[in-house]
Amino acid sequence: MNDCRIFQRALRRLRFGVVNGAPVESVGILGSGIMAGGIAEVVARADMRAILRARSEASATASLKGVEKGLARQVEKGKLEPAERDRILANISTTTDLGALGQCDLLIESVVEDLETKQQLFREFDAVTKPTAMLATNTSTLPVVEMAKVVKNPERVCGIHFFNPAQVLPLVEIVRPITASDETISRAADFVSKIGKEGVHVLDRAGFIVNALLFPYLNNAVRMLEDGTASMADIDTAMKGGCNFPMGPFALLDLVGLDTTLSILDTLHASFGDDNFAPRPMLRQLVEKGRLGRKTKAGFYEY
Ligand code: 3HC
Repeated sequence: MNDCRIFQRALRRLRFGVVNGAPVESVGILGSGIMAGGIAEVVARADMRAILRARSEASATASLKGVEKGLARQVEKGKLEPAERDRILANISTTTDLGALGQCDLLIESVVEDLETKQQLFREFDAVTKPTAMLATNTSTLPVVEMAKVVKNPERVCGIHFFNPAQVLPLVEIVRPITASDETISRAADFVSKIGKEGVHVLDRAGFIVNALLFPYLNNAVRMLEDGTASMADIDTAMKGGCNFPMGPFALLDLVGLDTTLSILDTLHASFGDDNFAPRPMLRQLVEKGRLGRKTKAGFYEY
């Protein structure tokens, strides 16, 4: 690195307080959905403190209950010692107060896929977090740079994208917006390895790697059903048996959530203008009927 770049970097650190690659010990998780609870569990398992922040006491409690239920199932199956469950739960606390995340080393937002909501949250992060904290979004498809640009120090913002169920799936995408510093990306990679996940690096393009490839496939499964080419059950059986996928596209759509799927496809379609991403009418109809998948006990299938 030449002298000029070293000087500029040192100046930036002085101005913004991005000091070093200090390891992450406490993580604030924003949201109360399935992903937020799953991320909190993953963090707590790796012996870091997880503070789950929800907008209401009721949703914070519901989120924690979801984690407790999953762990209880593991204990019942003999896969987890009760002492280990207690250790994990002791690492998780909940709050409704954003200010309680002030000392966290990393914040991961996992709220609704709505850019304005996320940007507002990032503005609030700026006011409460310590300057060395890393700020991450678990967005599926929204541009990370749009969140980075609303904070005073966009260098510390990146994407840390988990997959559902976060407790089980090994992958995490580390998303680099053009604004992120090398330190931020390297700290994010360290964090991902500390929680025992496999990290892949990707630029800040809609859908990153996985969703850009997965969602046209899911959308085309719906098209095939609409066309009457095959039944839902046979399409699912075909993709499990023919490709060794753990679940077929309709079971997976219900797991991901049809509202989430719709919003991901809308964003991909707007970004790339490719009709392959245009959400199929059947998907919209199910969402309009409130059949959102497993979380509402009905989607393509009934639960
Ligand atoms: N929470 C915690 N643990 C869970 C779980 C959950 N929600 N669901 C399953 N598990 C655990 C089980 O307890 C079990 O663990 P064990 O062997 O230690 O007991 C293990 O996972 C396997 O579960 P099951 O035996 O009950 O069932 P399966 O073997 O059928 O696995 C599955 C279930 C893990 C969901 C598997 O079917 C799978 O991997 N499906 C594909 C999921 C996928 O593709 N996800 C990506 C979606 S896209 C995404 O998330 C991106 C986002 O941006 C939208």
